[in-house]
Amino acid sequence: MNKYYDMITIENVSVAFEDFYALKNINLTLDEKRIGIIGSNGSGKSTFARLINGLQLPSEGKVEIDGLATCKNGKAIRRKVGFIFQNPDHQIIFPIVEEDIAFGLKNIGYNKAEIHQKIDSLLAAYGVTHLRYKKSHLLSGGEKQLLAILSVLVMEPTYIVFDEPSTFLDLKNKRKILQVMEKLNQTIIVVTHDLDLLTHFDRVLLFEQGSLVANDIPSAAIKAYQKLIYDPL
Ligand SMILES: Nc1ncnc2c1ncn2[C@@H]1O[C@H](COP(=O)(O)OP(=O)(O)OP(=O)(O)O)[C@@H](O)[C@H]1O
Ligand SMILES: [Mg+2]
Repeated sequence: MNKYYDMITIENVSVAFEDFYALKNINLTLDEKRIGIIGSNGSGKSTFARLINGLQLPSEGKVEIDGLATCKNGKAIRRKVGFIFQNPDHQIIFPIVEEDIAFGLKNIGYNKAEIHQKIDSLLAAYGVTHLRYKKSHLLSGGEKQLLAILSVLVMEPTYIVFDEPSTFLDLKNKRKILQVMEKLNQTIIVVTHDLDLLTHFDRVLLFEQGSLVANDIPSAAIKAYQKLIYDPL
């Protein structure tokens, strides 16, 4: 078996925007199924999340997903790693729900019948068959976030990165999306300010001013975050 199977490796990675370093010299190996990312606004969380699926390439160092470098294998990486944005309006492209889910599948060459069948089973599995022919922009916030997730799930990625997926949701829809996330077989990486969400996670990374300052079990990383706020660097 490939020794890199099911593993994210980040080696001496920095991300610079002109002379500003959004991330500084990050070294990490991640092989757990549930990984949380926390830290203050502007600490580098989204930049880190974007590195994982190659939306952002490192200015220095190397990011590898299952042994594939993001800087050389963009297309394969984007199939392997799904990305859910904070605001589903930035992700939903097509006017009808079904078309939005079908888009990625069409791109990779599935035929009409296969696409129809995949969408059938996906919508049924999540109890939202009734949304199939609805106008995407008329969905509620929770339904839109679910659609964004389904459009990623249908592509069967190995990893899914969520960048603050519950920000715009009310309590009920937040719970629903969390339940969906909990059931996913994929490795999930979640950027969040909602620390309660991370209780049962395997590992939590804490960023501060572009540096990785904790990499620990949730309770310890959250404690480090609280300490940072009351007793800054
Ligand atoms: N494309 C860019 N060009 C210039 N600066 C950028 C760019 N993207 C991010 N930055 C800067 O890098 C820093 C980290 O941004 P990032 O979006 O990763 O923070 P964050 O931890 O996700 O914050 P938040 O909690 O507010 O979402 C910020 O100071 C931001 O202004
Ligand atoms: Mg962010």
